[in-house]
Amino acid sequence: MARDCFNHGESALSEFTQIENIANHVGQTVKLRGWLYNKTDKGKLQFLLLRDGTGVVQCVVFQKDVSESVFEAAMSLTQESSLVVTGEVREDARAPGTPGGFEVGVEELEVIQVAEPYPISPKEHGTEFLMDQRHLWVRSSRQWAILRVRATVVKAIRDWLDGHGYLNIDTPIISPAAGEDTTTLFEIDYFDEVAYLAQTGQLYNESTIGAFGKVYCFGPTFRAEKSKTRRHLTEFWMVEPEMAFFTLDDLMDMQEQFVTYIVQTALEQRRAELELLERDLSRLEVVKPPFERITYDDAVDLLAKLREESDDPEQKESLAMEWGNNFGSPHETAIAAHFDKPVFVYNYPTAAKAFYMTPVEGRPEVCRSVDLLAPEGYGEITGGSERIHDPALIEERVKEMGLPYEAYKWYVDLRHFGTVPHAGFGMGVERAVSWICGTRHIRETIAFPRMLKRMYP
Ligand code: 4AD
Ligand code: MG
Repeated sequence: MARDCFNHGESALSEFTQIENIANHVGQTVKLRGWLYNKTDKGKLQFLLLRDGTGVVQCVVFQKDVSESVFEAAMSLTQESSLVVTGEVREDARAPGTPGGFEVGVEELEVIQVAEPYPISPKEHGTEFLMDQRHLWVRSSRQWAILRVRATVVKAIRDWLDGHGYLNIDTPIISPAAGEDTTTLFEIDYFDEVAYLAQTGQLYNESTIGAFGKVYCFGPTFRAEKSKTRRHLTEFWMVEPEMAFFTLDDLMDMQEQFVTYIVQTALEQRRAELELLERDLSRLEVVKPPFERITYDDAVDLLAKLREESDDPEQKESLAMEWGNNFGSPHETAIAAHFDKPVFVYNYPTAAKAFYMTPVEGRPEVCRSVDLLAPEGYGEITGGSERIHDPALIEERVKEMGLPYEAYKWYVDLRHFGTVPHAGFGMGVERAVSWICGTRHIRETIAFPRMLKRMYP
């Protein structure tokens, strides 16, 4: 049984110091509460690494300074035991490896629960095992750091948009129609009607720009991706700004500012976490406007050139492609590797993209679309376009794609009442966080990932 050591009904929040603020309390006696991250037993000295969610600090229990019961309590602690510690904060430059350079000389110690043998030890574990233990794995330092960066990225996204005149509109998750590729729909039974989980909120925000000009939605989106890749989740968070009167150039200008702000904010506010992740910060420091802009045609030529220059038959093979196809991840990686900042690729083949994208005048086989490819193999982090605003053309496209017209009537209808050129894009939060943190696989960038073969825990 866990011990009940709290005065219920009486808040004691102000009594406790957070480890991230410990530098402000040197020479003072503080109370900390959290979990035992690690322990080193040196006989009369017990070194407890205490973790409280905001940081880790070394707490030293010296037998001669504490009561017998406190010393025994310290001896009894196992990894991840929960406890309350009272002690004096000391600056400690001597002990290298002490997080933050501070330590606490323990006076009192209260055990809340002695944890059972913890399944995650400092030794190497396989990913599948760790994923099964995800409810505990989030406590490990790398996972902790990644999810702290994620929270900052999410806040930076909102701060930038809210500060630049974009109104947040929440779009539905239950939808009667597809927003993107109809092969990745999750179907649900909506009181005997077929409905789908939202792949995007974009179509709805093409409506709300008529009321507010510049908007964004930001929520979970769903894709029944049957492929197992390191870039795909079946449930991911997407921010989708949508702007009336924006052209493709406006869209790229805006994205440059937006992405730069997010990356630079993460660098500024989460430097310690990024260092813990051993991220090469110089690769993020250069992320400032302008980003290079190349057409799909240029990108295909670039791939042909890289292929020609490569001596590696396997790479040659993986870079092969025909004009008209979408890029696969080896293509995106190779294109982006050519630039040290994210690169915009625009004017993709119309047939390879969604039905709502504006065809280029005089060359309808390509459309006013743009993807932003991140360097270092992280691939597409944003995708967007100018939308078809002509009522007749959008109606034609809906029909041509074989989409159920009834479900899209409102979407076509919009174009009859003061239609304007408009554009928008979507950025997957996990893709952006994966790139910023330098994590190879996207699954670590969300607390509880959903993938083809994973929905536990
Ligand atoms: O390129 P996508 O499919 O574009 C849209 O959904 C548009 N409606 C966006 C818009 O114009 N408003 O997806 C946009 C971004 C991708 O660039 C990628 O970052 C992310 O969403 N994304 C995924 N992230 C994780 N797992 C998946 N399965 C993803 N599919 C897309
Ligand atoms: Mg895309």
